[in-house]
Amino acid sequence: MYKFGLNVFFIFVFFLLNAEGGEVTNTKYGKVLALKPNLEHGAALYETNCVLCHEMEGWGSIYGGDFPQLAGQHQSVLVKQLLDMRDEKRVNQPMMEAVFSKNILQLPQDFADVAAYVSALPMTNENGKGKDEDVIRGGEVYKKTCMACHGKHAEGNAKAMIPLLESQHYGYMLTQFMAIKAGHRGNADPAMVAVIQNLSDEDIHAVLDYISRIKPAKDKRAMEQNFSGIMDQFKAH
Ligand code: HEC
Ligand code: HEC
Repeated sequence: MYKFGLNVFFIFVFFLLNAEGGEVTNTKYGKVLALKPNLEHGAALYETNCVLCHEMEGWGSIYGGDFPQLAGQHQSVLVKQLLDMRDEKRVNQPMMEAVFSKNILQLPQDFADVAAYVSALPMTNENGKGKDEDVIRGGEVYKKTCMACHGKHAEGNAKAMIPLLESQHYGYMLTQFMAIKAGHRGNADPAMVAVIQNLSDEDIHAVLDYISRIKPAKDKRAMEQNFSGIMDQFKAH
């Protein structure tokens, strides 16, 4: 009961902090999000610089590392994460070397364009899943601990820059979740950090497995779910 009360308290504080819709407007994130995205330029940036790790479709990969699915993610979330990684608030060594140290994303417009392009890509639900050991328990943990922020179907919240999690790769989520819990991900949401501290490893595996199995809404899903797989074949060898 005490645990539940504490969760509700932190979630309440979170909403108080995010209640001012105009708050984001004057931040570095808001300035990028106010720009009108050029999707053609976004596609060119993506295809030249991101495909190696995130694949043509933006579906990421479970081979050779945890490359997140970016397709379908809210533009606001992508912009926030990219700026945080550039500013080393969230450390991402592979992207620091492959993207930011080469000034591939330089102008605010570059961030707006590539994020808008990726966000509009249809998603796969052939993503990496957990071991299917306790998905029912995972659903219960989700409702109690995560749903207030990440939404009923783990669809996230564009305005509050809360990530969509449905059909995200299990392995990627596990790495991020553990980093957030241990305080290693610099841009972690303090309210989330507080409410997840009491979860056992079993709860964590179960809830992430549950989330990885939630299918995105039909209009967000790709018709053809097969990866082009060029890099996957390469990585699997
Ligand atoms: C060398 C490989 C590599 C390249 C190239 C690369 N990424 Fe990444 N990206 C990663 C990895 C690995 C992660 C997971 C990082 C972590 O562990 O924090 C990631 C994470 C991300 C995230 C965070 C996703 C989330 O859900 O929070 C975004 C956004 C992103 N990449 C966008 C891009 C874009 C846009 C490009 C091209 C301009 C790009 N990446 C190029 C490897 C790469
Ligand atoms: C108080 C609101 C809140 C609660 C409760 C919450 N989260 Fe989060 N979560 C966030 C926010 C905000 C972020 C993004 C933080 C950032 O980088 O700006 C996030 C990020 C994440 C990420 C990383 C996503 C990515 O693409 O890298 C995962 C995974 C995640 N949450 C899972 C969970 C799970 C599972 C629960 C429940 C056990 C949970 N969260 C509870 C707000 C919340």
